[in-house]
Amino acid sequence: MTLATQTLAIIGAGNIGRALIGGLVRGGHLEPNNIRATRRRPDALSALGENFPGMVCTSDNTRAVRDASIVVLAVKPLSAPHVLSEIRPHIGTDTLIVSVLAGLTTRAIAQALGGEHPVVRSMPNTPMIVDQGATAITGGAFARTRHMEVARHLFEAVGKVEYVPEQLMDAVTGLSGSGPAYVYMLIEALTDAGVKQGLQRTVAFRLATQTVLGAATLVSRTGRHPAILRDEVTTPGGTAIAAIAELESHGLRTMFINAVATATRRSAQLSGMVGRPEPAL
Ligand SMILES: NC(=O)c1ccc[n+]([C@@H]2O[C@H](COP(=O)([O-])OP(=O)(O)OC[C@H]3O[C@@H](n4cnc5c(N)ncnc54)[C@H](OP(=O)(O)O)[C@@H]3O)[C@@H](O)[C@H]2O)c1
Repeated sequence: MTLATQTLAIIGAGNIGRALIGGLVRGGHLEPNNIRATRRRPDALSALGENFPGMVCTSDNTRAVRDASIVVLAVKPLSAPHVLSEIRPHIGTDTLIVSVLAGLTTRAIAQALGGEHPVVRSMPNTPMIVDQGATAITGGAFARTRHMEVARHLFEAVGKVEYVPEQLMDAVTGLSGSGPAYVYMLIEALTDAGVKQGLQRTVAFRLATQTVLGAATLVSRTGRHPAILRDEVTTPGGTAIAAIAELESHGLRTMFINAVATATRRSAQLSGMVGRPEPAL
C-alpha cells in the first residue's frame, strides 16, 4: 500500500489537517486531486482550494469520505461524535481511519463507526507545520501492519514517527504533544536571560532560537547521547558548568519529569471526558 495510489479525505482541515495536506503535497507523496478536505467555513474552504489547486474542498463530510481509501479525522474531539455518526454509513470496513483526535481510543472510534474498521490513532505536534513534527501512532484491534505502514508514511511527510502501545498515548501527549510549549518557554526564558545581561532583545531572541534549533539538530543528526555532547562543551571550572550547577540546584530535571507526569495525568483525565468538555489539545 503506497500513498500515491490512495484517495485521502481529511475531515476538519484546520491547523493539523492543513499541515498534513501541506506536507503530503509539498513532498510529492499525494496529488491534490487525490485529496478531499472538509471544514465548515466557506471563506476558509476557498482559501484551502486556492492553496491546493485540484484538491476537493467541501463542507460535505459524506461526499469527502465516499470514495476515500484513507479518512483522517482532524476535527476537535468535541465534534467527533457528530462527525463519526455522519460518516458512518459511508465508510467501508476496508477504509483506513487515521485519527488525530486527542483522547479518543481506537476502540471508541471503531465502535462509533459500527464495524471492524482498521483505526490508527496518532498524536502529532504542531512543528509538523514546518515538516518537523513528532508523531506517535498506535493501531486498533483491526489495524494490520499494512495500515500502520500507511499511517507512518502519512506522518513521515511532516516529520518523525514512533510506534507506541495505546496505553502510552497519554504519556506521548505529555511529552511531545504538549512539548513544543515547554520549548517555547525555554526560548523565551533564554531570551530574557540574554536581555538581562545587556543584549538587544532581537539579538538575544535570534541567538536563543538558533541555539535550541542547533542543539536539537546536532543531537538528532549525530545520534549521540545529549550527556556526551554536554560534557564536550563543559570545560573544568568554566562557564557552562557554573550554569549547569545553578540549573541543577533548582531541580531542572525533576521539574521536567514532574511537568510531563502532570500533563500525562491531565491527558488521561481529559480522555475520560471526550464528547463532553473539549480536551486542551
Ligand atoms: N493543535 C495541536 O497541537 C494538536 C496536537 C495533537 C493533536 N491535535 C488534535 O488535532 C485535532 C484538530 O486540532 P486543530 O488544532 O487542528 O484544530 P482546528 O484548527 O480547530 O481544526 C479543526 C477543524 O475542524 C473543522 N470542523 C469543525 N467541525 C467540523 C465538521 N462538523 N465537519 C468538518 N469540519 C469541521 C474546523 O473548521 P470550521 O470551523 O471551518 O468548520 C477546523 O478547521 C484535535 O482533535 C486535536 O485534539 C492537536
